[in-house]
Amino acid sequence: MNVLLLGASGRIGRRIAAELLDRDHAVTGVSRSGEVGGVDDPDFTAVAGDATDPDDVARLAADHDAVGSALGPGADADPEVLVDMMDAVVEGLRRASVDRLVWTGGAGGLEVAPGTRLIETADFPDEWRPVAEAAIEAHDDVLSEVDDLAWTYLAPAALIEPGDRTGEYRTAEGELVADEDGESYISMEDFAVAFADVLEDDEGVHEYLGVGY
Ligand SMILES: NC(=O)c1ccc[n+]([C@@H]2O[C@H](COP(=O)([O-])OP(=O)(O)OC[C@H]3O[C@@H](n4cnc5c(N)ncnc54)[C@H](OP(=O)(O)O)[C@@H]3O)[C@@H](O)[C@H]2O)c1
Repeated sequence: MNVLLLGASGRIGRRIAAELLDRDHAVTGVSRSGEVGGVDDPDFTAVAGDATDPDDVARLAADHDAVGSALGPGADADPEVLVDMMDAVVEGLRRASVDRLVWTGGAGGLEVAPGTRLIETADFPDEWRPVAEAAIEAHDDVLSEVDDLAWTYLAPAALIEPGDRTGEYRTAEGELVADEDGESYISMEDFAVAFADVLEDDEGVHEYLGVGY
């Protein structure tokens, strides 16, 4: 597959790029600067682009089979930029006639019990709230309304950190995945495995999927 990966320079994006390249896909990795450190592969091309600009997304997405996103607002931007990015990416894919989108989303909108989202729980950290709210808005108000693209909104567990690639993970539609002790965790490497599987196998189309152990 020929994949355009938005956010390839990010912590999760670099690991998704590595996983896709290991599986012999060709990856065009986007960052604002055009620099993507730490990815060295003949099938990888780093390019510059602005994911808030639908024209830029359309230009970059042309001639790709699918678009992946590990976009994040970064430390300095207003988290609401995630909603602008979602709008621009959806519009850019339409203009480029690319049908498949897998988006790295947030766990905050996943249910921990019927009718209760993670963000509504008492222990949800205040410092995560602004980006979690923006990620929910990007899904609920933009992506979930889209039926002309084959999108998947793939959300990590409550905690995602650099770790081991075990190849193991579980997914659940709309639900936070936690282990038998109630811990919700996934390594970035195993999240990348799930991301690549979902992309390759066309799993989870029009679903908000949680990933964890
Ligand atoms: N448990 C959870 O729910 C959870 C936990 C962690 C992360 N996440 C989500 O996962 C996603 C990725 O997280 P991360 O930690 O890997 O993020 P990150 O390291 O901050 O990376 C963000 C990426 O987005 C790119 N980017 C930002 N603005 C851009 C723009 N206007 N145009 C093009 N690229 C742009 C950055 O590229 P440059 O800065 O190089 O241009 C970078 O590649 C985020 O949406 C985050 O909220 C969820």
